[in-house]
Amino acid sequence: MKTAITEMFGIEHPIIQGGMHYVGFAELAAAVSNAGGLGIITGLTQKTPELLAKEIARCRDMTDKPFGVNLTFLPAFTAPPYPEYIAAITEGGIKIVETAGRSPEQYMPALKAAGIKVIHKCTSVRHSLKAEQIGCDAVSVDGFECGGHPGEDDMPNMILLPRAAEELKIPFVASGGMADARSLVAVLALGAAGMNMGTRFIATKEAPVHENVKQALVAATELDTRLVMRAIRNTERVLKNKGVDRLIEIEREKGAKLQIADIHAEVAGVYPKVMIDGEMDAGAWSCGMVVGLIKDVPTVKELIDRIMADAERIILDRLAGLVGVENKAALKVA
Ligand SMILES: Cc1cc2nc3c(=O)[nH]c(=O)nc-3n(C[C@H](O)[C@H](O)[C@H](O)COP(=O)(O)O)c2cc1C
Repeated sequence: MKTAITEMFGIEHPIIQGGMHYVGFAELAAAVSNAGGLGIITGLTQKTPELLAKEIARCRDMTDKPFGVNLTFLPAFTAPPYPEYIAAITEGGIKIVETAGRSPEQYMPALKAAGIKVIHKCTSVRHSLKAEQIGCDAVSVDGFECGGHPGEDDMPNMILLPRAAEELKIPFVASGGMADARSLVAVLALGAAGMNMGTRFIATKEAPVHENVKQALVAATELDTRLVMRAIRNTERVLKNKGVDRLIEIEREKGAKLQIADIHAEVAGVYPKVMIDGEMDAGAWSCGMVVGLIKDVPTVKELIDRIMADAERIILDRLAGLVGVENKAALKVA
Protein backbone atom coordinates (compact mmCIF):
# COMPACT_ATOMS: atom_id res chain seq x y z
CA MET A 1 0.00 0.00 0.00
CA LYS A 2 1.57 3.27 -1.13
CA THR A 3 0.58 6.55 0.54
CA ALA A 4 2.19 9.97 0.96
CA ILE A 5 3.55 8.70 4.30
CA THR A 6 5.14 5.47 3.00
CA GLU A 7 6.77 7.55 0.26
CA MET A 8 7.96 10.29 2.60
CA PHE A 9 9.55 7.93 5.13
CA GLY A 10 10.64 5.15 2.76
CA ILE A 11 8.63 2.48 4.56
CA GLU A 12 6.57 -0.43 3.27
CA HIS A 13 3.36 -0.05 5.29
CA PRO A 14 1.63 3.17 6.46
CA ILE A 15 1.94 2.25 10.13
CA ILE A 16 3.95 4.22 12.71
CA GLN A 17 4.77 3.27 16.30
CA GLY A 18 4.44 6.45 18.37
CA GLY A 19 7.06 7.35 20.96
CA MET A 20 6.25 5.81 24.34
CA HIS A 21 8.03 6.52 27.61
CA TYR A 22 9.80 3.38 28.92
CA VAL A 23 8.38 1.32 26.01
CA GLY A 24 10.03 2.84 22.94
CA PHE A 25 13.43 1.22 23.32
CA ALA A 26 15.53 -0.10 20.43
CA GLU A 27 13.93 -3.58 20.62
CA LEU A 28 10.44 -2.32 19.79
CA ALA A 29 11.51 0.35 17.27
CA ALA A 30 13.64 -2.18 15.37
CA ALA A 31 10.86 -4.79 15.40
CA VAL A 32 8.37 -2.30 13.92
CA SER A 33 10.81 -1.10 11.26
CA ASN A 34 11.83 -4.67 10.38
CA ALA A 35 8.14 -5.49 9.89
CA GLY A 36 7.83 -2.66 7.35
CA GLY A 37 6.41 0.07 9.62
CA LEU A 38 8.20 3.02 11.17
CA GLY A 39 9.65 2.29 14.62
CA ILE A 40 10.41 5.19 16.94
CA ILE A 41 12.81 5.36 19.89
CA THR A 42 11.58 7.56 22.75
CA GLY A 43 14.32 10.16 23.17
CA LEU A 44 13.67 11.32 26.72
CA THR A 45 13.41 7.81 28.17
CA GLN A 46 17.19 7.88 27.70
CA LYS A 47 18.33 9.91 30.71
CA THR A 48 21.15 11.70 28.87
CA PRO A 49 21.93 12.58 25.24
CA GLU A 50 24.90 10.15 25.46
CA LEU A 51 22.55 7.32 26.38
CA LEU A 52 20.26 8.27 23.47
CA ALA A 53 23.24 8.08 21.10
CA LYS A 54 23.91 4.54 22.40
CA GLU A 55 20.26 3.54 22.00
CA ILE A 56 20.27 4.79 18.40
CA ALA A 57 23.44 2.76 17.70
CA ARG A 58 21.84 -0.31 19.35
CA CYS A 59 18.76 0.06 17.13
CA ARG A 60 20.93 0.41 14.04
CA ASP A 61 22.53 -2.94 14.93
CA MET A 62 19.05 -4.51 14.95
CA THR A 63 17.66 -3.07 11.69
CA ASP A 64 18.82 -1.61 8.42
CA LYS A 65 15.36 -0.10 7.80
CA PRO A 66 14.47 3.54 8.55
CA PHE A 67 13.54 4.33 12.16
CA GLY A 68 12.94 7.57 14.00
CA VAL A 69 13.32 9.25 17.40
CA ASN A 70 10.57 10.93 19.43
CA LEU A 71 11.36 14.21 21.10
CA THR A 72 8.68 15.35 23.53
CA PHE A 73 8.79 19.03 24.48
CA LEU A 74 7.72 19.23 28.10
CA PRO A 75 6.65 22.33 30.02
CA ALA A 76 9.63 24.65 30.54
CA PHE A 77 10.17 23.97 34.26
CA THR A 78 11.48 20.47 33.55
CA ALA A 79 13.36 21.33 30.32
CA PRO A 80 15.94 18.66 29.44
CA PRO A 81 18.99 19.72 27.35
CA TYR A 82 17.15 19.62 24.00
CA PRO A 83 20.01 20.94 21.82
CA GLU A 84 22.23 18.10 23.08
CA TYR A 85 19.48 15.54 22.45
CA ILE A 86 19.12 16.94 18.92
CA ALA A 87 22.88 16.65 18.44
CA ALA A 88 22.69 12.96 19.44
CA ILE A 89 19.89 12.51 16.89
CA THR A 90 21.66 14.26 14.00
CA GLU A 91 25.04 12.71 14.74
CA GLY A 92 23.35 9.31 14.97
CA GLY A 93 22.23 9.71 11.35
CA ILE A 94 18.52 9.78 12.20
CA LYS A 95 16.42 11.17 9.35
CA ILE A 96 12.95 11.09 10.95
CA VAL A 97 11.90 12.80 14.18
CA GLU A 98 8.48 12.67 15.82
CA THR A 99 7.99 15.78 17.92
CA ALA A 100 5.23 16.17 20.48
CA GLY A 101 4.08 18.41 23.29
CA ARG A 102 4.99 22.05 22.77
CA SER A 103 5.73 23.47 19.32
CA PRO A 104 9.09 22.35 17.88
CA GLU A 105 9.48 25.77 16.20
CA GLN A 106 12.73 26.83 17.85
CA TYR A 107 14.41 23.52 16.96
CA MET A 108 13.22 23.33 13.34
CA PRO A 109 16.31 25.02 11.85
CA ALA A 110 18.64 22.47 13.49
CA LEU A 111 16.45 19.53 12.46
CA LYS A 112 15.99 20.76 8.88
CA ALA A 113 19.71 21.56 8.49
CA ALA A 114 20.38 17.87 9.22
CA GLY A 115 17.94 16.80 6.48
CA ILE A 116 15.48 15.41 9.02
CA LYS A 117 11.81 14.88 8.22
CA VAL A 118 9.68 16.11 11.13
CA ILE A 119 6.29 14.66 11.98
CA HIS A 120 4.66 16.67 14.77
CA LYS A 121 1.99 15.06 16.93
CA CYS A 122 -0.86 17.34 17.90
CA THR A 123 -4.43 17.17 19.06
CA SER A 124 -6.11 20.01 17.17
CA VAL A 125 -6.52 21.46 13.69
CA ARG A 126 -5.01 24.79 14.79
CA HIS A 127 -1.85 23.15 16.11
CA SER A 128 -1.63 21.02 12.95
CA LEU A 129 -1.80 24.17 10.81
CA LYS A 130 0.88 25.80 12.97
CA ALA A 131 3.08 22.71 12.46
CA GLU A 132 2.58 23.00 8.69
CA GLN A 133 3.39 26.70 8.82
CA ILE A 134 6.70 26.22 10.69
CA GLY A 135 7.90 23.64 8.16
CA CYS A 136 6.95 20.25 9.59
CA ASP A 137 6.75 17.61 6.85
CA ALA A 138 3.76 15.74 8.27
CA VAL A 139 1.45 15.68 11.26
CA SER A 140 0.25 12.92 13.54
CA VAL A 141 -3.31 13.96 14.39
CA ASP A 142 -4.06 12.63 17.86
CA GLY A 143 -7.75 12.28 18.77
CA PHE A 144 -9.45 12.31 22.17
CA GLU A 145 -9.36 8.48 22.28
CA CYS A 146 -5.58 8.42 22.49
CA GLY A 147 -3.37 7.09 25.23
CA GLY A 148 -1.22 9.87 26.69
CA HIS A 149 -2.07 13.55 26.37
CA PRO A 150 -5.22 14.23 24.31
CA GLY A 151 -5.11 18.01 24.93
CA GLU A 152 -8.06 19.96 26.26
CA ASP A 153 -10.45 20.09 23.26
CA ASP A 154 -11.83 16.54 23.63
CA MET A 155 -12.23 16.13 19.87
CA PRO A 156 -12.62 12.49 18.75
CA ASN A 157 -10.97 11.33 15.54
CA MET A 158 -14.27 10.90 13.68
CA ILE A 159 -14.48 14.71 13.54
CA LEU A 160 -10.83 15.72 13.99
CA LEU A 161 -9.46 13.74 11.02
CA PRO A 162 -11.85 15.01 8.33
CA ARG A 163 -11.37 18.53 9.72
CA ALA A 164 -7.59 18.09 9.42
CA ALA A 165 -8.07 16.79 5.88
CA GLU A 166 -10.06 19.91 5.00
CA GLU A 167 -7.36 22.27 6.24
CA LEU A 168 -3.93 20.66 5.83
CA LYS A 169 -1.74 20.58 2.74
CA ILE A 170 0.92 18.29 4.27
CA PRO A 171 0.11 14.61 4.78
CA PHE A 172 -1.06 13.35 8.16
CA VAL A 173 -1.50 10.06 9.96
CA ALA A 174 -4.32 9.27 12.37
CA SER A 175 -3.32 8.66 15.97
CA GLY A 176 -5.42 7.55 18.92
CA GLY A 177 -7.72 4.54 18.92
CA MET A 178 -5.90 2.71 16.12
CA ALA A 179 -5.70 -1.07 16.57
CA ASP A 180 -6.27 -3.05 13.41
CA ALA A 181 -7.17 -3.12 9.71
CA ARG A 182 -10.57 -1.60 10.42
CA SER A 183 -8.84 1.42 11.96
CA LEU A 184 -6.47 1.75 9.01
CA VAL A 185 -9.13 1.56 6.30
CA ALA A 186 -11.43 3.91 8.21
CA VAL A 187 -8.80 6.62 8.63
CA LEU A 188 -7.70 6.34 5.00
CA ALA A 189 -11.34 7.06 4.15
CA LEU A 190 -11.28 10.08 6.47
CA GLY A 191 -8.27 11.55 4.67
CA ALA A 192 -5.26 10.25 6.60
CA ALA A 193 -2.26 8.71 4.82
CA GLY A 194 -1.64 6.10 7.50
CA MET A 195 -1.93 5.46 11.22
CA ASN A 196 0.10 5.86 14.38
CA MET A 197 -0.37 3.30 17.16
CA GLY A 198 0.79 3.50 20.75
CA THR A 199 -1.10 1.27 23.18
CA ARG A 200 -1.57 -1.58 20.65
CA PHE A 201 2.20 -1.93 20.19
CA ILE A 202 2.74 -2.43 23.95
CA ALA A 203 0.84 -5.73 23.74
CA THR A 204 3.38 -7.36 21.41
CA LYS A 205 6.02 -9.99 22.08
CA GLU A 206 8.90 -7.61 21.35
CA ALA A 207 7.71 -4.69 23.51
CA PRO A 208 10.41 -4.64 26.21
CA VAL A 209 8.02 -4.24 29.16
CA HIS A 210 6.97 -6.49 32.04
CA GLU A 211 4.56 -9.30 31.14
CA ASN A 212 2.05 -7.91 33.70
CA VAL A 213 1.61 -4.82 31.50
CA LYS A 214 0.74 -6.89 28.42
CA GLN A 215 -1.70 -9.04 30.40
CA ALA A 216 -3.33 -5.93 31.92
CA LEU A 217 -3.93 -4.60 28.39
CA VAL A 218 -5.46 -7.87 27.22
CA ALA A 219 -7.71 -7.98 30.32
CA ALA A 220 -8.88 -4.34 30.22
CA THR A 221 -11.92 -3.08 28.33
CA GLU A 222 -12.64 0.21 26.58
CA LEU A 223 -14.25 1.38 29.83
CA ASP A 224 -11.05 1.11 31.86
CA THR A 225 -9.20 4.34 31.01
CA ARG A 226 -9.46 7.56 33.02
CA LEU A 227 -8.57 11.19 32.34
CA VAL A 228 -6.35 12.73 35.00
CA MET A 229 -4.69 16.12 35.59
CA ARG A 230 -7.40 18.11 33.81
CA ALA A 231 -7.39 20.77 36.54
CA ILE A 232 -3.77 21.61 35.74
CA ARG A 233 -4.38 21.53 31.96
CA ASN A 234 -2.09 18.57 31.48
CA THR A 235 -4.83 16.02 30.79
CA GLU A 236 -3.60 12.46 30.42
CA ARG A 237 -5.52 9.30 29.51
CA VAL A 238 -4.30 6.47 31.73
CA LEU A 239 -5.25 2.91 32.66
CA LYS A 240 -7.37 2.74 35.81
CA ASN A 241 -5.59 1.17 38.79
CA LYS A 242 -5.36 1.68 42.56
CA GLY A 243 -2.83 4.50 42.19
CA VAL A 244 -5.10 6.25 39.69
CA ASP A 245 -8.11 5.80 42.04
CA ARG A 246 -6.08 7.58 44.75
CA LEU A 247 -5.12 10.32 42.29
CA ILE A 248 -8.74 10.89 41.27
CA GLU A 249 -9.77 11.05 44.93
CA ILE A 250 -7.15 13.78 45.56
CA GLU A 251 -8.34 15.62 42.43
CA ARG A 252 -11.90 15.51 43.75
CA GLU A 253 -10.85 16.92 47.13
CA LYS A 254 -8.69 19.73 45.71
CA GLY A 255 -10.90 20.69 42.76
CA ALA A 256 -9.63 23.71 40.82
CA LYS A 257 -6.93 24.28 43.47
CA LEU A 258 -5.07 21.12 42.48
CA GLN A 259 -1.31 21.51 42.10
CA ILE A 260 1.17 19.06 40.67
CA ALA A 261 2.77 18.65 44.14
CA ASP A 262 -0.54 17.23 45.45
CA ILE A 263 -0.33 14.23 43.12
CA HIS A 264 3.43 13.82 42.94
CA ALA A 265 3.38 10.30 44.40
CA GLU A 266 0.84 9.10 41.84
CA VAL A 267 2.49 10.57 38.71
CA ALA A 268 6.24 10.89 39.30
CA GLY A 269 8.59 7.98 38.67
CA VAL A 270 5.70 5.65 37.86
CA TYR A 271 6.89 4.39 34.45
CA PRO A 272 9.91 2.30 35.54
CA LYS A 273 7.80 0.77 38.34
CA VAL A 274 5.09 -0.27 35.87
CA MET A 275 7.06 -1.07 32.73
CA ILE A 276 10.15 -2.67 34.30
CA ASP A 277 8.92 -4.03 37.66
CA GLY A 278 5.35 -4.82 36.59
CA GLU A 279 3.80 -2.99 39.57
CA MET A 280 0.42 -2.42 37.99
CA ASP A 281 -1.03 -0.27 40.78
CA ALA A 282 1.93 2.13 41.00
CA GLY A 283 0.12 5.15 39.56
CA ALA A 284 -0.72 6.93 36.31
CA TRP A 285 0.61 5.54 33.04
CA SER A 286 -0.74 6.33 29.60
CA CYS A 287 -3.18 3.96 27.91
CA GLY A 288 -5.71 4.54 25.14
CA MET A 289 -9.39 3.56 24.91
CA VAL A 290 -8.23 1.23 22.14
CA VAL A 291 -7.29 -1.15 24.96
CA GLY A 292 -10.82 -2.51 24.51
CA LEU A 293 -9.77 -3.87 21.09
CA ILE A 294 -6.62 -5.63 22.32
CA LYS A 295 -7.22 -9.37 22.72
CA ASP A 296 -3.80 -10.95 22.15
CA VAL A 297 -0.03 -10.49 22.31
CA PRO A 298 1.29 -11.24 18.80
CA THR A 299 4.76 -10.52 17.46
CA VAL A 300 5.05 -7.10 15.85
CA LYS A 301 5.37 -8.75 12.44
CA GLU A 302 2.26 -10.87 13.01
CA LEU A 303 0.35 -7.74 14.03
CA ILE A 304 1.46 -5.64 11.05
CA ASP A 305 1.05 -8.47 8.51
CA ARG A 306 -2.44 -9.16 9.87
CA ILE A 307 -3.40 -5.48 9.60
CA MET A 308 -2.21 -5.21 6.01
CA ALA A 309 -3.79 -8.51 4.87
CA ASP A 310 -7.12 -7.69 6.56
CA ALA A 311 -7.05 -4.13 5.17
CA GLU A 312 -6.73 -5.49 1.66
CA ARG A 313 -9.65 -7.84 2.27
CA ILE A 314 -11.82 -5.03 3.67
CA ILE A 315 -11.04 -2.78 0.71
CA LEU A 316 -11.25 -5.36 -2.08
CA ASP A 317 -14.02 -7.64 -0.82
CA ARG A 318 -16.21 -5.63 1.48
CA LEU A 319 -15.96 -2.06 0.21
CA ALA A 320 -15.36 -2.70 -3.51
CA GLY A 321 -18.08 -5.35 -3.32
CA LEU A 322 -20.53 -2.76 -2.06
CA VAL A 323 -19.99 -0.34 -4.92
CA GLY A 324 -19.34 -3.13 -7.43
CA VAL A 325 -22.81 -4.54 -6.97
CA GLU A 326 -24.34 -1.11 -7.35
CA ASN A 327 -22.25 -0.37 -10.43
CA LYS A 328 -23.32 -3.61 -12.09
CA ALA A 329 -26.93 -2.72 -11.40
CA ALA A 330 -26.34 0.77 -12.74
CA LEU A 331 -24.74 -0.70 -15.87
CA LYS A 332 -27.73 -2.97 -16.50
CA VAL A 333 -30.10 -0.05 -16.16
CA ALA A 334 -28.00 1.96 -18.61
C1 LIG B 1 2.58 4.08 27.71
C2 LIG B 1 2.57 5.24 26.77
C3 LIG B 1 3.59 6.18 26.84
C4 LIG B 1 3.62 7.26 25.96
N1 LIG B 1 4.66 8.15 26.01
C5 LIG B 1 4.74 9.15 25.08
C6 LIG B 1 5.86 10.02 25.04
O1 LIG B 1 6.78 9.93 25.86
N2 LIG B 1 5.89 10.99 24.08
C7 LIG B 1 4.88 11.12 23.16
O2 LIG B 1 4.97 11.98 22.28
N3 LIG B 1 3.80 10.30 23.17
C8 LIG B 1 3.72 9.32 24.10
N4 LIG B 1 2.63 8.46 24.08
C9 LIG B 1 1.57 8.64 23.04
C10 LIG B 1 1.79 7.71 21.84
O3 LIG B 1 2.94 8.05 21.12
C11 LIG B 1 0.62 7.78 20.85
O4 LIG B 1 0.46 9.10 20.37
C12 LIG B 1 -0.69 7.34 21.50
O5 LIG B 1 -0.47 6.20 22.27
C13 LIG B 1 -1.73 7.07 20.43
O6 LIG B 1 -2.91 6.61 21.01
P1 LIG B 1 -3.25 5.03 21.19
O7 LIG B 1 -2.62 4.66 22.48
O8 LIG B 1 -4.74 5.03 21.24
O9 LIG B 1 -2.68 4.29 20.04
C14 LIG B 1 2.58 7.41 24.99
C15 LIG B 1 1.56 6.46 24.94
C16 LIG B 1 1.54 5.39 25.80
C17 LIG B 1 0.42 4.40 25.70
